[in-house]
This record gives sequence, structure tokens and C-alpha cells, in this order.
Amino acid sequence: MKGIVLAGGSGTRLRPLTTITSKHLLPVYNKPMVYYPLSVLMLAGIREILLISTPEHLPGFRALLGDGSRLGLRLSYAVQTAPRGLADALLVGGEFVGDDPLALILGDNVFYGHELPSVLRDEVGKLDGCTVFGYPVADPERYGVAVTGEEGRLVDIEEKPARPRSNLAVTGLYLYDNVALRYAAELTPSARGELEITDLNRRFLAEGRARLVNLGRGTAWLDTGTPDSLLEAGVFVQVLEKRQGVQIACLEEVAYRMGYIDDHGLRELIGQVGPVTEEGRYLVRVLEAAI
Ligand code: DAU
Repeated sequence: MKGIVLAGGSGTRLRPLTTITSKHLLPVYNKPMVYYPLSVLMLAGIREILLISTPEHLPGFRALLGDGSRLGLRLSYAVQTAPRGLADALLVGGEFVGDDPLALILGDNVFYGHELPSVLRDEVGKLDGCTVFGYPVADPERYGVAVTGEEGRLVDIEEKPARPRSNLAVTGLYLYDNVALRYAAELTPSARGELEITDLNRRFLAEGRARLVNLGRGTAWLDTGTPDSLLEAGVFVQVLEKRQGVQIACLEEVAYRMGYIDDHGLRELIGQVGPVTEEGRYLVRVLEAAI
């Protein structure tokens, strides 16, 4: 399976923070925001990943992450010339995806949960059509909303409905069969001129091949789109990391634990970040199996 991180858009709600930089490069506590969705794909077992951003900001991502080889990944990059919608990622990334299934994750989505990696790997293994991940929220009208029927089966998805029919938001992580590339190419732009991911998901729904996985209370799904929610996400990560002494979305650690790099690779990374820095000291503890 291939992975796409969509990290374009204009980040207007975070201006002036986003006047000269991408929202996805802003800090969520001690890491750039994009580390969080990237770590999710890595934990799902995906190692070939395309990062899509704007022409202005793509060089920043490249400088930050390079070709991914130091993390045992193959990272590539593509430009979205204008914010043509989330489903446009499948057009921009079509060549990269080739004949494979794909996972699309939005670059501003932060997930955290003990069970999440195993749930994702399980879902990747049994993918048939499209799989979306629901999360109960207090303000569903701000998101795609899942409508469920018997036994939690997905019946409909509505994009930012004025009167939500459930409290289950559809998070920014989507798994697709390869046919999604063709379906995305057949979409017509919505009233706001975008290729809507909800329209793509409804196409799978219409053929009875869209599955909803409710992440429920055991997982945290955090918003980062406004100054308040960005700060709250940072505080959430800080509290957990300080309390538990473990990091969330430390890419070097994830690469090591997933077996993408070995002891030698991790030692090299420690040398690069410096063994006496906070990050280096943490990775030394990972290497020594102290955590
Ligand atoms: O976060 C989950 C929600 O994401 C879903 O519940 C909604 O169904 C889905 O439409 C989307 O809603 P948002 O209003 O949050 O989408 P937004 O336009 O803010 O874009 C989400 C991310 O994708 C953000 O990091 C910017 C990036 N983006 C967006 C567009 C429209 C792009 O890179 N290119 C684009 O063309």
C-alpha cells in the first residue's frame, strides 16, 4: 500500500502564523505538525509515501524530511498548484500510486491511541473498497459526518451538515482500493469548486463498499486548525509525554520499532541529532530498550 500526506491549502484560519510557512510545519509541542500524520502511516506499515504541498512550501518539507532513507522510508514530493480539494490528492498522486491501494491522510490530523497501529494494520489487511475512521465529537457540523445504521454500519456521509444526524466525525484518514484513482478523476467539483473527499467516499458507499471504523473513546483525534486548537493539541502532547516519559510521533523511534531501521541506523540518527540533545538522549533510551 502507498501513502499520501496532503499538506497544502492556505491555512487562512492560522494567519499570521501561516503567512510565510505551511501550517503543517508549525510546532505541535516539540515536533512539526506533519510528523504526526506521517507517523500514523508508518505505524500502519506503509513505507512508500508521497507528500503533497503548495509550490511555495514544498521545499520546506523536502529540507525537513529528505528522501526518507534515514528512516527506512521512500519519500517523494508533489505539488498541488491550487487548493482543488482533498480528492485532488488522488489525481496529483496518481502516478505515484500506480496500481496499488492507498492510504490518504491529511497533514493537519493528529491521532493518538494505544490500539491505533494494530487497528490500522488490521484494516489495511482487509480493505475492500474504502475505509473511513469515525470519531465522536461535540461539534460534528465542522466535519464530514457519518450516519450509521444497524450494528454501526455506514449508511451515509454528509459534509459539514447544518443539522448533523450523528456525532461521529469522519477523520482525515482514508484507505482506498486502486479504483479510487478512477473515481476521483470522475468527480465533479462541488459548489465551492473543490473535489470533495466526501463525494469520493459516497461513490464507494453507493456500491456498498465503504466501511466505517469507529475509533471511539480509546483514541484521541485532535484538531489543529485554529490558534486555540493548535495550542491545545500541543499541551495534550506535552502532558502525555511528560507524564509517561515516552514521545508521540517521534519518527526515529517509530522507524526503529517498526524495523525500518536497525540498531546501526538508529545509532547513526543519534549521532546526527547529537547524543546530548533532548531528542538524542531519548533515542539512546529507545536503543538501550530502557523504554
Ligand atoms: O479533518 C477531517 C475533515 O477534513 C473531514 O471531516 C472533512 O470531511 C474533510 O472535508 C476535511 O474538512 P476540513 O474543513 O478540515 O478540510 P480543510 O479544507 O481544512 O483541509 C484539510 C487539510 O487538507 C488541511 O491540512 C489543508 C489540506 N488541503 C486542503 C485542500 C482543500 C490541501 O492540501 N489541499 C486542498 O486542496
